[in-house]
Amino acid sequence: CTPEVRELLLSRITDVPNYPKPGVMFKDITPLLADPKAFGALTDTLVELAGRYGATKIVGLEARGFILAAPVAVKAGIGFIPVRKAGKLPGATLAQAYELEYGTAEIEVHAEDLSAGDRVMVIDDVLATGGTAEASLELIRRAGADVAGVAVLMELSFLPGREKLSGALAGAPLDAL
Ligand code: PRP
Repeated sequence: CTPEVRELLLSRITDVPNYPKPGVMFKDITPLLADPKAFGALTDTLVELAGRYGATKIVGLEARGFILAAPVAVKAGIGFIPVRKAGKLPGATLAQAYELEYGTAEIEVHAEDLSAGDRVMVIDDVLATGGTAEASLELIRRAGADVAGVAVLMELSFLPGREKLSGALAGAPLDAL
């Protein structure tokens, strides 16, 4: 994004120490969401990226990814597909497990929402370990669709998320605003 937009976005993200656990610095995006100028600039930037990716579908990752991805899909005039935590979608799903720091988690997508010929852009707020995004790319490919690119608001560059994701990206772009 432009340096001006970057500054605006940074100014609307708050550091919350020791949340949700001691030693963790939480990045709170609620001030950004409450500011229509900043939220608008963010979604406009993501719409531009969707165009550059040639995306035909937008996937948002639960839960904060939904908030960012849905307005992008509407503005871009393409479909929004939710990738949800297991057990939340009523129809036939594809499921993908992934590792957490302790234990495993599982995400799902409605199988009928993605198919061959789709070029899918994944949007989320944060790339940390990369586990969630990697699992979403597996789901997209298993549905027969292509990964057009991944865009996140923030990348925690002290974690190896980008490295972890590189295989699953298979050459598709990863943009951190
Ligand atoms: C956070 C964040 C990303 C994911 C990143 O979501 O919004 O989706 O973790 O972590 P990773 O790169 O290590 O996988 P969280 O699971 O906290 O869910 P929420 O948005 O529903 O709070």
